[in-house]
Amino acid sequence: MTAKRDSFEYIGTITSVDKTDRGVLLKSDEAIVDISFFAPGVVRVRAVRGAAFAPDFSWAVVAEPEKVDFEIEEDEEALSLTSGRVSVTIERNPFRVVFEDEEGLINEDEPGRAVGWRGDRVRCSKVLPPLEHYYGFGEKLMRLDRRRHRMIMWNTDAGLHHPNSDPLYVDIPFYIGHRNGRSYGIFFDNTWKSLFNMGGAALRHAYFQAEGGEANYYFIAGPDMKTVVERFTRLTGRSQLPPLWSLGHHQCRWSYKTDQRVRRIASGFRKRDIPCDAMWLDIHYMNGYRVFTWNPKRFPDPKALIADLAKDGFRTVIIVDPGVKKEPGYSVYDDGLEKDFFLRRTNGTVFTGIVWPGTTVFPDFNREEVRAWWADLHKGYLAEDGVAGIWNDMNEPSINIRPTRRVNTDGVVHHDPATGETGPHMQHRNAYGLTEAMATHAALLRHRPGKRPFLLTRSGYAGIQRYAAIWCGDNTSAWSHLRYSIPQMLGLGLSGVPFTGCDIGGFALNGNAELYARWIQLGAFYPFCRTHSMLMTRAQEPWSFGRRITDIARRYINLRYTLIPYLYNLFREHTLTGLPPMRPMILEFPDDEACALIDDQFMFGPSLLVAPILEKGARHRDVYLPDGVWIDYWTGCEYPGPCTLTLEAPLDTMPLFIRAGSIIPGMPPMQHTGEKPINPLILEIYPGAPGETISYEYYEDDGETLDYENGASCITRYECTLSENGDVAFTVGARQGAYAPAPRLIELRFHMPENCPAQITINGQVLQSGNPVMPSCQPPVWCCDDDSGLATIMVQDTGERMDIQLKQE
Ligand code: GLC
Repeated sequence: MTAKRDSFEYIGTITSVDKTDRGVLLKSDEAIVDISFFAPGVVRVRAVRGAAFAPDFSWAVVAEPEKVDFEIEEDEEALSLTSGRVSVTIERNPFRVVFEDEEGLINEDEPGRAVGWRGDRVRCSKVLPPLEHYYGFGEKLMRLDRRRHRMIMWNTDAGLHHPNSDPLYVDIPFYIGHRNGRSYGIFFDNTWKSLFNMGGAALRHAYFQAEGGEANYYFIAGPDMKTVVERFTRLTGRSQLPPLWSLGHHQCRWSYKTDQRVRRIASGFRKRDIPCDAMWLDIHYMNGYRVFTWNPKRFPDPKALIADLAKDGFRTVIIVDPGVKKEPGYSVYDDGLEKDFFLRRTNGTVFTGIVWPGTTVFPDFNREEVRAWWADLHKGYLAEDGVAGIWNDMNEPSINIRPTRRVNTDGVVHHDPATGETGPHMQHRNAYGLTEAMATHAALLRHRPGKRPFLLTRSGYAGIQRYAAIWCGDNTSAWSHLRYSIPQMLGLGLSGVPFTGCDIGGFALNGNAELYARWIQLGAFYPFCRTHSMLMTRAQEPWSFGRRITDIARRYINLRYTLIPYLYNLFREHTLTGLPPMRPMILEFPDDEACALIDDQFMFGPSLLVAPILEKGARHRDVYLPDGVWIDYWTGCEYPGPCTLTLEAPLDTMPLFIRAGSIIPGMPPMQHTGEKPINPLILEIYPGAPGETISYEYYEDDGETLDYENGASCITRYECTLSENGDVAFTVGARQGAYAPAPRLIELRFHMPENCPAQITINGQVLQSGNPVMPSCQPPVWCCDDDSGLATIMVQDTGERMDIQLKQE
């Protein structure tokens, strides 16, 4: 070992090399290092002091290692392992790893500081190339590029946080390095309290370290960022398709304190024609904050309440915290204690904290039997009362809400599934939210058989997307929080979590009209769209700020609903590729260095560019449009990129652009996603460049059950070609798959770059023109608006192939 000024002892000379099935096992005098190909483009580096590894275990990694062929070359100084495009050079003295591909260097260890230890603390150091950007790191309320930041991974109940507060609620020790259009990823799979320093305090190198455990990281090759995300989410898993209702708008408050209040708010939505799919119950629904109870006075008949809400198209989601009130005679406490399911200290006492119910104990979710017990406890809520989704809060875990009292975690131990023994809180805390989510997810599957689970969590570790959506905790009704919610969610998306949102309007402090208006405009494009606010703050329903703001909220929530088929398909894309719906500009335009730092606008899938207003009083903003042609959603004006525009944005307008060459499926607005079948299905068609054929695969299923897992889904492929003379050829492919949507019309809306067509044919037959909204005019029919060049065709969607021609002459 070699000691450095940072007083870590780093691995020095490699003294022996053994070939293994997947790579090499290296030894130095004090340490062993295992370097192996885990999957194509994925290399695992594992190092410990001593002569043997502890049993291998991960909460995050669900992929099995794949067979990867590789070659080894060796000389006195180094050996190199090559597989496909990636090669790993291991220098022997001092030990150091360098990752390269055909185009050259990707990532390398800092010379002399590859892997080292100080006490139990383990550190890996990397060279910090100039101009390399660092994205990801899970939930950080920081600018998108986290170069020069120092970030702690320690799940924390971060009430009253603000931009750059660190740590927050979620730990995902993963980042993407990006330089000159090329990306790679590093996933440090270690749940101990850890730290990433990407050059903070003028450091000349970057490092990541943990308070214990192994040096255990995965190097993930790109070279493009989408491949890195795809590989990382193959490793740690992806979200399944969410129930369609969960993509609607959600209304929450701490708390709607009685059933009458909940009913009044719900009917307030319907009365005002503002779409909403779910009502949320915060902690006051419980009896004295005891989990798995109802307050008999406030909610005397929860079953009737939930059934009535359901008749009106609302799902009910309730909060479930992990802490159990310490109270002999309360069945959940008695039962858990008898079974010995709560966390203890090494001295044998049950660990207690102070949370909403007062003195509180905490289940040890690392144990499978505890997770099964917890899942069972949900039976009443889910199977009997009719609750549709669960909200897991306080699961960092939050152990002390009264700062004047002292609670410490000294000697607190959790079950260690790797060894079957116990391990310290410092090792297991970061996985607590994930393991609770595993239990809750199992509860939803078990007690709502055949239905898709919906779970929202505050805390989590890498892989949390397999079980839950994330909201970003207790933000504030402040412009800075609105602004930073964008990079916060973009970072989560790059870290594998697609389903994210922040409390719209802000949680803490009183909201205000202008802020709410701007927030609902942006929030309509959060993958998870929920308004929530804190106890004792002013009301924050869409109609709480007067008629003008109500109209704005209705307009943007309606816009979200019209885009739900597109959003749903983005979630399907996530299941295939791991990509999130909300994407940083750099993910879609990796070669455009101007996009590397942009985090006040973003892509909503590949086709929409969202540029929210983020400042008080602002009535205009600058928008960067990358290469391509962009269409202003509101005016239809076209702009060729790359360019920067300054746009007007009165209070009711949020700049929104469509990328030419897009097909966007949509639906008519509805009060809730289950109000009626989608009819007509709307396709917004923005042809590409002349000569270019664009295509879109539209996925559908019942949006509610798990039948799609057994093939109950269908796909329709659309293709569109614009020719040099302005004609458009459009094909609706034959619907493929076992799911048959209800009979419906399809409304094809061609945003013609030239003029209105002179004639339209379907399968060679000339189509009559007329206005489809006139009752006398039955589809198939078409019309065109000369001013905008929008040609609309209304035709029966039979599931059969249709060839459509829009001819200029
Ligand atoms: C926490 C949650 C917040 C919730 C409150 C009461 O602060 O983050 O969303 O309303 O607890 O349950």
